[in-house]
Amino acid sequence: MNRRERARHAIEARVYQDAIGAPPPSKWRCIIPLFTEHGYASRVLRKRLGLPTPLNTEDRRVLEQTIFPCYGVNPSFKNVLFVGCNTYTSDYQRLYFADHNFWTIEPNADLTQFGARQHVVAPLEEMGRHFAENFFDLIICNGVFGWGLDREEQCNAAFEQCHTCLREGGHLIFGWDDVPRRTPIEVAQIGSLARYGRFNFPPLGTWRYLTDTPYRHTFDFYQK
Ligand SMILES: C[S@@+](CC[C@H](N)C(=O)[O-])C[C@H]1O[C@@H](n2cnc3c(N)ncnc32)[C@H](O)[C@@H]1O
Repeated sequence: MNRRERARHAIEARVYQDAIGAPPPSKWRCIIPLFTEHGYASRVLRKRLGLPTPLNTEDRRVLEQTIFPCYGVNPSFKNVLFVGCNTYTSDYQRLYFADHNFWTIEPNADLTQFGARQHVVAPLEEMGRHFAENFFDLIICNGVFGWGLDREEQCNAAFEQCHTCLREGGHLIFGWDDVPRRTPIEVAQIGSLARYGRFNFPPLGTWRYLTDTPYRHTFDFYQK
């Protein structure tokens, strides 16, 4: 295993601790990787400076190297909404959707700096107030369910409005962590998702793809 792979496992282990709600690590546990882990010090510095800080994990690799490129080159997907943003997503417009009508939506106003040029400060369940019916070709809601989008009625409202704002045939990519702490309700219990068809995403050969990560990050592909 090379240095980069070792670093990936270490990052995934930290994401897992966060995903299961483990207490934050001690100061020492944060300091040691500064000297031992490939890329850690530069990531800490970039984060501090508010610079784009890519996350070296397997689920990001699938999202950024398999999913985004496939949609990025398809001319049927021009109007794109990305839900929830942070330092590790702030370069997504520039790197993957530069020629698109790319929007972000995020309820936390402090994170606006990581949003796209076209950004809305609102929760997803209020997107209908900001966007017209049938407007988007693609909505990417990754890592939001269980990380703030938690209650059944909230989830139902959110995916109902995504459905309204997607054009006929438009896609919803729903990324979630299949661990108890981040599945506050069963995904199967979110009634509004039943309004969509399941889409078999050709590069992964399935509509539901479980990544090889300790936090069981899963991508579901839906079509209106
Ligand atoms: C774990 S981060 C995921 C960020 C990004 N989407 C990604 O791919 O990693 C969760 C983000 O979802 C946002 N969020 C929480 N509740 C939300 C809601 N109801 N609607 C939209 N975003 C929400 C949080 O503020 C936070 O920035």
